Amino acid sequence: MGDFIKHPFVDMPDRNPEQVIPNDQLVFTSEEKKQIQTWVSHYPTADGAVMRALWLAQEKFSFLPPEVIKLVAAEIGIPYANAYGVATFYTQYFKEKKGKHVLDVCTCFSCQLCGGYDMLHYIENKLGVHKGETTKDGLFTIQEAECLGACGSAPMLQITNGPFVHNLNKDKVDALLDALREGKVPAFTSVTLPQDEDEMGGNRRTDVSSVESYIVPPISETVS
Ligand code: FES
Repeated sequence: MGDFIKHPFVDMPDRNPEQVIPNDQLVFTSEEKKQIQTWVSHYPTADGAVMRALWLAQEKFSFLPPEVIKLVAAEIGIPYANAYGVATFYTQYFKEKKGKHVLDVCTCFSCQLCGGYDMLHYIENKLGVHKGETTKDGLFTIQEAECLGACGSAPMLQITNGPFVHNLNKDKVDALLDALREGKVPAFTSVTLPQDEDEMGGNRRTDVSSVESYIVPPISETVS
């Protein structure tokens, strides 16, 4: 045997942690069951409905502990392992309880070049928690996200699998956090892609003074 890694460390989620949703609450209503069975009927095999059923379950229970994933699997008639595999593959399915607002800050290539990490660290400092953590008041969870498909308006973040906030800078983050504290979630907005560098105002990094050189940055209307 060569020098193979003998004890590879892979941090695996606990498949059977203590149940957090009590049995008397661990049920779908008849309407929810009907909805799930309608989705099942749209696909050649029941597995096709698993993503929508998991989503419905997450909206109902706010996250997907193993007992909820088992409930979904049982409802659509597939093995627990199949539903578990889908739920644990996508970060958009929350496997543990999160804050009321989950801030997915993109630090992938385009956002990183435009100050994504500056924004992530600024939010961490402002809220006093690190990425992956939730504030004591339960209001915010910060997460680091891979590309969310809005590279043209980097740096950006997404709020709880919902609206995007584009072209972040510190002022915009301040306004966003204040708005969320007041319960005002920005609406979905679309931004047009800048057509050339002049339109973007040149260097758009937020950690250098040239940020002052914005001409007309393509700021969305999400936060005013
Ligand atoms: S790199 Fe951030 S949205 Fe694509």
